[in-house]
Amino acid sequence: MTRKEFLQSAATAVAAASFVPVAALLEGCAVRSQTLRVSAKENRVRLWLAELPKLSEPEGYVKVYPFGFAHPIVVFQHSSGEIFAISTTCTHAGCEVRKTKSKFECPCHGSQYDLTGKVTRGPAPANLARFPVKKEGEFLEIVLKEG
Ligand code: FES
Repeated sequence: MTRKEFLQSAATAVAAASFVPVAALLEGCAVRSQTLRVSAKENRVRLWLAELPKLSEPEGYVKVYPFGFAHPIVVFQHSSGEIFAISTTCTHAGCEVRKTKSKFECPCHGSQYDLTGKVTRGPAPANLARFPVKKEGEFLEIVLKEG
């Protein structure tokens, strides 16, 4: 095998190995959620509802990453119509929990929370943080910290 043949086969192998996980990742994320990186002003995040199409879709949700936050806030519409903004930082040891159709699950040690953020299975010692949400006209405001 020549050097050129070796490099071509190596490049093909790398491309094949990296394509499958990326495609699977995009497929999984593209269906139900969207991601936004935002700046907070005076501990508040203001989102334009027109830019949140996933919020009105069944099982849709928005992952909001305020600058400085280690993990995103998940914003979604509950079956009651109420809009929730829930921290994805597990209260056990700080791993990022994942939203499923009916709950939040922590991949690190198995804690589970219901969709309101209430812990339903330990070892998590407390509920997920829930941020107040206000709908004002065409905007949604998330209050990150009272004050
Ligand atoms: S960090 Fe979530 S269960 Fe331990």
